Amino acid sequence: MDVSKRLIIVGFSGFGKEVYWLARRLGITVVGFLDDNPAVQGVTYRDSPVLGTVDSWVNYPDCLYVIAVGSPRIRKKIYENIAASGMPQFATLIDPAAVVNSEFVSIGEGSIICAGTILTVDIVVGAHVIINLNCTIGHDAVIRDFVTVAPLVAVSGNVKLSECCEVGTGASIRQGVTLGQGSMLGMGGVLTKNVAENTVFFGNPAKAFKTIAG
Ligand SMILES: CC(C)(COP(=O)(O)OP(=O)(O)OC[C@H]1O[C@@H](n2cnc3c(N)ncnc32)[C@H](O)[C@@H]1OP(=O)(O)O)[C@@H](O)C(=O)NCCC(=O)NCCS
Repeated sequence: MDVSKRLIIVGFSGFGKEVYWLARRLGITVVGFLDDNPAVQGVTYRDSPVLGTVDSWVNYPDCLYVIAVGSPRIRKKIYENIAASGMPQFATLIDPAAVVNSEFVSIGEGSIICAGTILTVDIVVGAHVIINLNCTIGHDAVIRDFVTVAPLVAVSGNVKLSECCEVGTGASIRQGVTLGQGSMLGMGGVLTKNVAENTVFFGNPAKAFKTIAG
């Protein structure tokens, strides 16, 4: 990506601060954060202030944007709210300590790949995906838009994570398994079978725990 461009991070949270760190590791200047929480307006992290609410992005049309919000549903909602008033240019942030070769892997705009994560071959990652620290993503995996993968997750070959899926810290997914849209595998889960849409699974072997609203 063009490191001469300046970045605005949407979401002033713990993960937002980690994305600030990632951007700085890439040599990108972070202009500031946007967040709808009134309590954080004007607060500064390092040299970067909270500039305003998310809808104020229109005041900075020349900046790159990334949505650093862990929840897939909330991230998608923020994206839709931004898109309602135009379309900024989204950055795709790949930590220098991630192993990703664009000859073998495609990654959509707005996605974030954190340090220590390895993606091998013939993998498709959609837009606005977050793959956190120290994950492994195996061959032919498909990771759709707005998916969140927490740290230390092992995604085996040919796994499909449908739109807005979430995988908790330290979970493992058997090869070829599909998580339906909006579903979640809890931290530490060992997933051996396909998961329906909008369902939370956890445990070893992972079992359905509850459904969540689409
Ligand atoms: C699965 C999950 C979504 C359930 O959350 P929840 O609906 O709020 O459920 P609760 O915390 O009320 O837990 C309900 C019960 O399930 C148990 N439980 C919750 N998550 C569990 C998990 N991942 N594995 C095993 N048991 C779990 C709880 O201990 C509790 O047991 P109890 O009824 O005997 O007291 C959540 O626990 C989880 O795993 N989130 C992912 C966290 C994560 O990875 N964060 C990443 C940060 S970067």
